[in-house]
Amino acid sequence: MAKILVTGGAGYIGSHTCLELLNAGHDVIVLDNLSNSSEESLYRVQELSSKKLDFVQGDIRHDQDLDKVFNQYQIDAVIHFAGLKAVGESQQIPLTYFDNNIAGSINLTKAMERAGIFKLVFSSSATVYDEANISPLNENMPTGMPSNNYGYTKLIVEQLLEKMSEADPRWSIALLRYFNPVGAHKSGHIGEDPQGIPNNLMPYVTQVAVGRREKLSIYGNDYNTVDGTGVRDYIHVVDLANAHLCALNNRLINNGCRAWNIGTGNGSSVLEVKNAFEKVNGVSIAFEFAPRRSGDVAISFADSTRAKEELNWTAKFGLEDMLKDSWNWQKQNPDGYQK
Ligand code: NAD
Ligand code: WQD
Repeated sequence: MAKILVTGGAGYIGSHTCLELLNAGHDVIVLDNLSNSSEESLYRVQELSSKKLDFVQGDIRHDQDLDKVFNQYQIDAVIHFAGLKAVGESQQIPLTYFDNNIAGSINLTKAMERAGIFKLVFSSSATVYDEANISPLNENMPTGMPSNNYGYTKLIVEQLLEKMSEADPRWSIALLRYFNPVGAHKSGHIGEDPQGIPNNLMPYVTQVAVGRREKLSIYGNDYNTVDGTGVRDYIHVVDLANAHLCALNNRLINNGCRAWNIGTGNGSSVLEVKNAFEKVNGVSIAFEFAPRRSGDVAISFADSTRAKEELNWTAKFGLEDMLKDSWNWQKQNPDGYQK
């Protein structure tokens, strides 16, 4: 069992990963500045696991916060979620994104180097793939220039980490390229709690269902897809959390820097998601068709063979589970962690 530092551990994917880590018997230390989360998620993680974790409120951009953690705990590996993720906002305040996501990641790896820790799992994104690639996307396909500054920070950090590990063979880095994380722990006690108007499809759908939003705007119905709406690879957040444990096991014994896609390999259109949500949950979702959203691609889904073969990871949950669990969380927590 290992002692794992989880940056951004109070957030959506981080909290689910902390729970899986605790359930697997690991010790967990969370470093989070709570800029997009609340400590309530961590109380709930501890309740669900009947285990304790350590929480340090701090910022990956601040050396003193990082050194304090690395001096206080004998960390074996770091899972790095901390960062900003709102695509639209990244176009308005790019420097804030570069600072949190790029400078923050550089700061973190410098602190790891000072502490002699070289095992890292990094939250990357399918957005790093060149838009010209045809799905299913595999890790040998070229990356491209992402259409927004958020995606750009993910690409840059991937490249920095690759170069760092080329220069110093002590590093062992997993780049996990997430497709579209949705769903929640089956208890409905932890889940996704976006601030303000959701950018992503699933929280928007659940907020319409719970009466917080009037109707869903479906961005584009003239794509070259099964029904004209955009196709994505939705992945249950618990499956995604478990991919981090698989990557950790791999990185504890191997060195170098390597990328893995984390998706189910299945594409679903926006209309398919909306219709399936209505059917499995017995609620109706008001919607309208709206113009395409700038920067969106028509189709994106994963080839996840590499994760299966090398990490022994596969997705266990299907779309119905994702939709049921998203709704179970939202229904029990109509205003998220605010209660
Ligand atoms: P989230 O916002 O719920 O979690 C991120 C956490 O990081 C939050 O708790 C926030 O308070 C914390 N944080 C932000 N800046 C920080 C800083 N400077 N120092 C310390 N803590 C900081 O987001 P999430 O959906 O859980 O995403 C986790 C990671 O996965 C992010 O890096 C995100 O970019 C990446 N990712 C997410 C998705 C997605 O669709 N959710 C897809 C691909 C990649
Ligand atoms: C999914 C589909 C939309 C909202 C983004 C980031 C990516 C990653 C995950 C996070 C698309 C459509 C959406 C709505 C809609 N990042 N949609 N109405 O765009 O695939 O990926 O989130 O950290 O980097 O780009 O996900 O959930 O926003 O959209 O019709 O109100 O739903 O057009 O086809 P996306 P999404």
